[in-house]
Amino acid sequence: MDDTPETFESVIAGPRGSGVVPSDGPPLLSLRGITKSFGAVQALRHVDLDIPVGQVTALVGDNGAGKSTLIKTISGIWAPTSGTISWKGKEVHVHTPRDASDLGIATVYQDLALCDNLDIVQNMYLGRESTKGGILDEIEMEIATRKTLADLAVTTVKSVRQLVGSLSGGQRQSVAVARAVMRESELVILDEPTAALGVSQTAQVLELIKTLKSHGLGVIVISHNLSDVFEVADRLAVMYLGTLVNNGPIENYDTASAVELITTGSSSRVPGPGAMSN
Ligand SMILES: Nc1ncnc2c1ncn2[C@@H]1O[C@H](COP(=O)(O)OP(=O)(O)O)[C@@H](O)[C@H]1O
Ligand SMILES: [Mg+2]
Repeated sequence: MDDTPETFESVIAGPRGSGVVPSDGPPLLSLRGITKSFGAVQALRHVDLDIPVGQVTALVGDNGAGKSTLIKTISGIWAPTSGTISWKGKEVHVHTPRDASDLGIATVYQDLALCDNLDIVQNMYLGRESTKGGILDEIEMEIATRKTLADLAVTTVKSVRQLVGSLSGGQRQSVAVARAVMRESELVILDEPTAALGVSQTAQVLELIKTLKSHGLGVIVISHNLSDVFEVADRLAVMYLGTLVNNGPIENYDTASAVELITTGSSSRVPGPGAMSN
């Protein structure tokens, strides 16, 4: 195990964490012809999608459209039935969550998977505790946790020794994101990060997404809330019954056309499905 706790800043400044692919280079992540079947259910049908660096892509669609299945494929939970995944222009095989995290893909699932009976530092380092001479380096871990939260502009947490069970929903989401990005992450995937949150907590999480983007990371965010989507997203990707029916810069859409795409799979008011049409 590494002796030095990683902070968000070391991630950004680190050897692999410079993170910024020139915008004229290949996308951070490219999916081509991704299909996923569960028995007779075809959850994903030939999905082509590019995720650029330094931008927020909102993935939207009705329940059952295939959003979670798509991110689970990117995160190594499901192997696609067919199709290819490329990372910075090179084809990769993402068979396990470990493969995804080794590439620099950090996923925050809806259930957050934090331990309520442990404090923030303990949650941040769960399973990868930092040691010095064989004993836990509590001070180092505490300093690094504070710094990571500060880098992410998370200011409402009173103490990093607070039990996670005592945090608000927005704070929990922030800790989950901080935990995910503490490793060298270049793509952060958030599944419904604001679903359970009130207005001010939602605002906190949206700020956090903007901070990730300003650090040059790529972000994929699944959301049902179109006002959140229009506030943070640079691009929209719409799924309908397993098919990616439309994808483009957020300027191509308004609430009405996004709703139309989500509920019917098409809209005469937006340019056709494109790969990276900006
Ligand atoms: N593990 C699974 N086994 C069988 N079918 C599944 C499984 N996971 C998802 N599905 C099916 O795949 C489709 C897409 O689901 P999902 O990706 O969860 O949609 P979304 O996240 O957009 O609501 C649905 O028809 C769902 O029932
Ligand atoms: Mg889902």
